[in-house]
Amino acid sequence: MKSAITGWGKCTPDNIMTNDDLSKFVDTSDEWIQQRTGVKERRFSHVNTSDMAEIAGKHAIACAGLNPEDIDVVILATCTPDSIVPSAAAHVQKKLGAVNASVYDVNAACAGFLYALEQGKAFVESNLYKRALVIGAEHITWLLDWSDRNTAVLFGDGAGAVVIEESKNESDGEIYSFSNGLSSDNLEILEIPNFGSAMDRFNPDEAAKVRWTFDGQEIFKSGVRAMAQASAEAIEKSGLSKEDVDIFIPHQANIRIVEALEKKLGLPNATTIKKVHRYGNTSAASIPTAFVDALEEGEIKGGEIAVFTAVGAGLAWGACAVRLGDRVTPINKSDAKLPDFDGTATDTIKRAIEYQVPNKLDKI
Ligand SMILES: CC(C)(COP(=O)(O)OP(=O)(O)OC[C@H]1O[C@@H](n2cnc3c(N)ncnc32)[C@H](O)[C@@H]1OP(=O)(O)O)[C@@H](O)C(=O)NCCC(=O)NCCS
Repeated sequence: MKSAITGWGKCTPDNIMTNDDLSKFVDTSDEWIQQRTGVKERRFSHVNTSDMAEIAGKHAIACAGLNPEDIDVVILATCTPDSIVPSAAAHVQKKLGAVNASVYDVNAACAGFLYALEQGKAFVESNLYKRALVIGAEHITWLLDWSDRNTAVLFGDGAGAVVIEESKNESDGEIYSFSNGLSSDNLEILEIPNFGSAMDRFNPDEAAKVRWTFDGQEIFKSGVRAMAQASAEAIEKSGLSKEDVDIFIPHQANIRIVEALEKKLGLPNATTIKKVHRYGNTSAASIPTAFVDALEEGEIKGGEIAVFTAVGAGLAWGACAVRLGDRVTPINKSDAKLPDFDGTATDTIKRAIEYQVPNKLDKI
C-alpha cells in the first residue's frame, strides 16, 4: 500500500510581534535580526498549543473531505505541550471530537513533524490505521527567556497539520522515503536542561530559572550539514535524483541557514519555500505552516516532487521526499479560528517580561 497527503491546514495566531516591538524589551534591533536571521515578525499565541493544533487539525480534516470521527490516530509533534499528563494530543482529541482516534505526542524538537509524518505513513501503509492526522504545533514563546537575546529573537508560535490516507491513484500523490535520525554527540548545543524530572521540584526558585543552553553557530553548521545529508539520503532512498525535486521546504529557522543549505545540497530545479520572515522559527510547526502557505499562495501547483527537511535539539534531524497530489484545493473548508484576544502580542507575555526583564515593562 502507498500513502499520500490528502488534507492540510494551519493556525497562525493574529498577534504579530515585529522586530521593532521586540526591541522594546530585548537588547536587539530590527536591523540585526533581519540581517542575521531574515525574520521580520513572528506570531505570539494567547492560547495553548492544543488550541492551535485543534484549529490546524480542523482545517486539515475538512480539506481532506473528512469528519473528526474518521480520524484513527492523532500524532502531535510538539516540545511545548499544554501538560505532560495528559498529552497535548489528548486535549486535541477532545477539542476536535476525534473520538475514534488513538492519540499521542512526539517530541523531536524542531524535527518533530518529520518524525510524526514518518509514523503516520507507517500506520497507514501497514493498514493499522486508515487515516492519520499529523500535527506540528508549538507555543514556543511560552518557553523563551526574554533576558536572552540569543534565543528570544528567533522563535514564534503556530501550528500546521496534514491528513495521511491511502494513495489509491497516481493523482493522489505518494509519501516516499524518509531519512530521520539523531546525533547525540551534539546534545549540549541546544538544551533546556532543567525542565523535566531533572528539575529540583522542591526548590521554589528552580522552575522560574529555566534557561536555554544555546550555541547558535554550532547549530547553524551542524544543522546545515545534517539537513543536506538527510535530504540527499531521502531523495536517494526514494529512487529519485536531485534533478527530480521541484519544491524544497526546509525548516524555517534562519534565512542564512536555508541559503547555505540550498548551496550545499544543490537541487538545480527546485523552488525553495521561504516563510521565515513571517513567522520566525516555529519549531515543529515550521514545515507544515510553510507547506500550507505555499499551497494557499500558488507556489505549489500540484503533482510536484517535494522534499521536506528539518533539524532540532538533540541534534534530531529528518528529511522526506513526497509526490504531492494533483489536488491543491480543499474538498471542504472549515471556518475554525482561535478565540479573539483583546490585546497586543506583548500582552500575551506580559507576566514573563515582568519576571525576566522587569525594568523594561514601563517603557513598552
Ligand atoms: C543565532 C544566530 C542567528 C546568530 O547569528 P551569528 O551570525 O552566528 O551571530 P553571532 O552569534 O556570531 O553574534 C554576533 C554578534 O551579535 C550579537 N548578538 C547576538 N544576538 C543578538 C541580538 N539578538 N541582537 C543584537 N545582537 C546580537 C552577539 O553578542 C555578537 O556580538 P559580538 O560580536 O560583539 O560578540 C545564528 O547562529 C543561528 O541562526 N543559529 C541557528 C539557531 C537556531 O535556529 N536554532 C534553533 C534550532 S533549529
